[in-house]
Amino acid sequence: MDRIVINGGKKLKGEIDISGSKNSALPILFATLLTDEPTIITNVPSLADIDTTIKFLNFIGKNIIKEENVVKTCFSGKYKHIAPYDLVRKMRASILIMGPLLARIKKVDVSLPGGCAIGARPIDIHLDAFQKMGVDIYVENGYVKTFAKNGIKGAVIDFKLPSVGATENILLSAVLAKGVTTIINAACEPEIEDLATVLNKMGARIIGAGTNKIVIKGVDKLCGFTHKIIPDRIEAATYMIAAAVMKGEVTLNKVEPIHLKAVIDKLKRCGLFIKEKKDTIFVKWVKNLKPQNVKTEVYPGFPTDVQAQWMVLMSLLDGKARIEENIFENRFMHVAELQRFGADIVMNGKVAYIKGVKRFSGAPVMVSDLRAGAALILAGLAAKGKTTVSRIYHLDRGYEALEKKLKKLGADIKRVHNN
Ligand code: EPZ
Repeated sequence: MDRIVINGGKKLKGEIDISGSKNSALPILFATLLTDEPTIITNVPSLADIDTTIKFLNFIGKNIIKEENVVKTCFSGKYKHIAPYDLVRKMRASILIMGPLLARIKKVDVSLPGGCAIGARPIDIHLDAFQKMGVDIYVENGYVKTFAKNGIKGAVIDFKLPSVGATENILLSAVLAKGVTTIINAACEPEIEDLATVLNKMGARIIGAGTNKIVIKGVDKLCGFTHKIIPDRIEAATYMIAAAVMKGEVTLNKVEPIHLKAVIDKLKRCGLFIKEKKDTIFVKWVKNLKPQNVKTEVYPGFPTDVQAQWMVLMSLLDGKARIEENIFENRFMHVAELQRFGADIVMNGKVAYIKGVKRFSGAPVMVSDLRAGAALILAGLAAKGKTTVSRIYHLDRGYEALEKKLKKLGADIKRVHNN
């Protein structure tokens, strides 16, 4: 298994390009199931999750090819209606197969996704919504079997919480439903807006995406599209925090600053110099930073996907900080690993209490999930001496050319292939 080896302490200086958003590209790839016409998607990041999705959609019946960061799809003639366990267990977003297939072929059997390191990851909100849209659902042999015998019909759906995936799944079916669907308490993430932009390009009639009330008027048919994926705001936040941790000076190109407002505000409050332009963000460490408490919230609040990275920064500042995780029930798997670097973190339920330490010392550590992995890399950059990070396949799911980008900024980092 590959590992990443870092010799810490190097300043970060220079500029890098931010890649397209993983969490926008995934639902948009599933949206291609809604049309038989060719589609072209650009700025698609080269990531393991994208490859998994392309393989899955080719299995279901799309013809998809990816060259560099461009994905082209066309229809192969017939869709399978089964999403097998060995594909779904690899990537939770596979559950997004439900919306498009229920809309197109009125049935789909999906292996229950199962939990992951950050929580049980239930899909009750998705299933309750589909039931309201006329879908019969039953669970058998670890599969959720669904059938819309009279087709998908519009409904008023009030989410018990603003689930990103459930909002996407319902959008992906309501666009071809009979009648009007209203989603109340919808997720407002930029990735939802990007998906809705694509669906409207295809001929859908969606208003309100990006707010917590979305109205979708079903249409009979959707056509092909060309679309450029929005920048990855979580990748950008990760590199901004790396610059803060390493007292560096970094320019991020091809970003959308408005998507990062909560993180930028917090970093400015710490004392980091940040200058946002149209599609770039300049970050410079100019003085000792002050710790800032955070509570993770749904967008536009502080993102849960940046919580682990924030913990590394707070662990290396003079003073105390409090981090509250309100989105996932078990998103502190990185704490034990950070303590191996010398971090001083005390847990109490969903709150982490951090006391800054002078410095980390390098250690062998193991990645439990994607964003925890990012935190371990940041810790390794800061630590004195050598850090070896194993199980980096988690990182390859969500960070394109991670070592290359960090090396370009001056980090001493390399990937070691272990057969
Ligand atoms: C998306 O996951 C993202 N993944 C996650 O990013 C992100 O952390 C999450 O949204 C929150 O922003 C993708 O977009 C592919 P949710 P998703 O449904 O859709 C509970 C990353 O690092 N819930 O908004 O699975 C759930 O357990 C990944 O890129 C239910 O209870 O998130 C969680 O506690 C990690 N029932 C909360 O809601 C449901 O039916 C938020 O989940 C669905 C969700």
